[in-house]
Amino acid sequence: MTHSTEIHGTARPGTPPRPPVRAGLAETVRFMATHTLPVFVRGVASPRFGVVALYSRLNQPAWSNATLRAMRARHGGAPVLVRALSGEMLVLFDEEDIARFFAEPMDVLAMDAKDKLDSLAVFEPTGVICSHGALREDRREVNDRALAAGQDNHPACAEYQGIVEEECRPLTAATVLDFPRLRTAMARASRRIVLGDRAADDAELAGWLTTLRDQANWMGRSRPEANRALYARADTRIARYAADAPPHTLAARALAAPSPEGTDPLGQTHHWLLAIEVCAPIVIRTLLLLAAHPAEQDEARAEIAAGTPGLPRLRACVRESLRLYPIVPDLVRVTRAETEWRGVRHPAGTTVLVPIGFHQRDPERVPGGHLFAPGRWLAPDADLDPRMAPFSHGAGRCPGDRLGLLLSSLVCAEVLRGNRLTGARPVLDTGRPLPGIVDTAGIRLRLGRP
Ligand code: HEM
Repeated sequence: MTHSTEIHGTARPGTPPRPPVRAGLAETVRFMATHTLPVFVRGVASPRFGVVALYSRLNQPAWSNATLRAMRARHGGAPVLVRALSGEMLVLFDEEDIARFFAEPMDVLAMDAKDKLDSLAVFEPTGVICSHGALREDRREVNDRALAAGQDNHPACAEYQGIVEEECRPLTAATVLDFPRLRTAMARASRRIVLGDRAADDAELAGWLTTLRDQANWMGRSRPEANRALYARADTRIARYAADAPPHTLAARALAAPSPEGTDPLGQTHHWLLAIEVCAPIVIRTLLLLAAHPAEQDEARAEIAAGTPGLPRLRACVRESLRLYPIVPDLVRVTRAETEWRGVRHPAGTTVLVPIGFHQRDPERVPGGHLFAPGRWLAPDADLDPRMAPFSHGAGRCPGDRLGLLLSSLVCAEVLRGNRLTGARPVLDTGRPLPGIVDTAGIRLRLGRP
């Protein structure tokens, strides 16, 4: 852990520190009941789709949003200390505070906050997100190299496109596309991209990884011994595939150059396998939105037909679907130094939360926040706008953002090429604010002739 004696923030010399703004009892209970507990029940690492379906019937995000709006109004936008699962956390509401959250370096605001670490360490204990200090920087370097972070076109883009085309072919041969089939196809594509074609049919490995991710929902408190043994078994299998994986795979790319000492280059594969599989819910929600917005669908299909390089319109649709339905709705960090927020000092070790799912839909800050308007992502620098952060920003920004957008837009393109989405379940009422959550596992899309 890196500690600094400097105070980070907006302190003015000689200004006496002010007491923190703390949520009252009623506010805390409301926050726990409408935000913290629902996040835990839905699954912090692996979504429980039955719960997601229930939340969509109850419109659960509306309860959480109402709580956050009330807290912001009551405390004038100041950061609020509120009780969470394992202690207090500082919730940020103000635009400037949020911009600073993204701008602080990792030795001030670190990724490995306790609850996040407890959970993710079950299935990726040596992943970059679970690391800190110099080791984190080394692991991030391995990640960035394999993922070609920051490059719009991954060097193995052609091979990945081939894999996506092959895995999508059976999907578009039918007239109905549902989530279970898309999820199976994406999981196969993920194993092929990370470990090579030999891993495509490895249902046993898939089962082990699913078990570990489900266990991560219990934040390391359930069956720790059994989880460690299962992780070791999965790790051995992954190393076996990686040993002769073809050069375009992420595992081979991670092994291609010498890694800094103490860094397990294959330790990142667990996160990569999961992150690519996560494109399945992203894709099906993007297609659901396009089915409900025929004009946007026409634009996307025109771009595909024209063979526009990089599919910018479709990528904007994926980004917009992520803004509305983020994969990481709560960004959590822990301070590694004393920090000062609006004249209030908080000790090192304070957990800081940006409920980005709430902020990036907030109509007071984001025009048309509850509407599907992909064009907003075509504006210059939209991708760096701190009001909207589906991939986060700054030092903790997702290094797989371009790869995720590439794969998601390629899968969307495979479905839309030669097909029109003519009907979809659930039906979205585009005349009203879009729901805060959709029953992803229940999405069914009808594919018709263009
Ligand atoms: C396409 C959808 C994706 C979304 C929406 C997404 C989103 C995010 C977000 C929000 C974070 C920061 C998490 C936090 O602050 O706790 C993150 C981190 C990360 N993502 Fe992604 N991601 C995606 C795809 C990918 C892909 C495809 C990969 C790799 C194959 C990947 C690899 C990573 C890694 C390694 C980190 C940890 C970064 C660090 O600790 O510095 N992501 N992602």
